[in-house]
Amino acid sequence: MFEEAQYFAPVETRDDGSVVVELATGHPGFADAVYRERRNAIAALALNHRPGDPVPRVEYTDAEHRVWALVAKELAAKHRKYAVREFLDATERLGLPVDRIPQLQEVGDLLSPLTGFRYLPAAGLVPLREFYSVLANGLFHSTQYIRHHSVPFYTPEPDVVHEVIGHANTLASSRFAELYRAAGRAARRVESERALEFVSKVFWFTLEFGVMHEGGELRAYGAGILSSYGEIEEFRRMDIRPLDLAAMGTTDYDITKYQEVLFAAASLGQLEDVVGGFWETCDDEAVARLLAGAGAR
Ligand code: TRP
Ligand code: FE
Repeated sequence: MFEEAQYFAPVETRDDGSVVVELATGHPGFADAVYRERRNAIAALALNHRPGDPVPRVEYTDAEHRVWALVAKELAAKHRKYAVREFLDATERLGLPVDRIPQLQEVGDLLSPLTGFRYLPAAGLVPLREFYSVLANGLFHSTQYIRHHSVPFYTPEPDVVHEVIGHANTLASSRFAELYRAAGRAARRVESERALEFVSKVFWFTLEFGVMHEGGELRAYGAGILSSYGEIEEFRRMDIRPLDLAAMGTTDYDITKYQEVLFAAASLGQLEDVVGGFWETCDDEAVARLLAGAGAR
């Protein structure tokens, strides 16, 4: 299995029909019964969702809205310092609420006039093939729960803050949205699991954890950096390597920590040429050639 899969707590449906999210012992919400109940209830909503229905509405509590407001405020300040211009401009155009958690339906209503993207609910891990291939149709699978209030600056699984503040703001840029769609087309084109894994690793090191040189500084555009006000303070100190498809597609990562190896694009144009160009044309053979070149077997 891909490492990414372990990122999401497994969601189980019991014989009596109840939905249980299995948080790992180290999860910040592990010992919090109230939090666990919320996670179960929110996962159940997504599991009952049928394709084509509106995204289920989550009635968030005041405490949950306060977590969003705190994180949104911290992140806005960090973004001004560390995010690429394309993201900052897109964030301004999208105009997400900062004082409360938006519904995913609402996120899609703001986003779709800009770049055509809409959000779909996810209870937990969505199979890679499914997650990526619907990107080609402008659909983004998203969790709806929010991180535990005790550790707002970093959470070990994607939550609504990551999906919306990290990804939706990026998806509000037509240039980034086109890259997401290209990743989706690549996932549809490749047949082997090996090639799909390669495509998803390139996604990981770019649209999730990518950084870029801009105006003489290193700035972030990856949604996983842009949604953590802990990690965003650290990326400039990491092992920064030049953009390289074979390296990105074969480098392993530890999902439980701040990312120590990052790949820097020289510009958005270079990212589009190299990574966008790869996703636009890659097939199993092209991936096999890159793997052979990287010496991976
Ligand atoms: N650490 C991210 C945050 O605090 C969330 C996250 C966890 C994540 N696992 C991820 C993001 C994997 C991208 C990929 O916002
Ligand atoms: Fe993500």
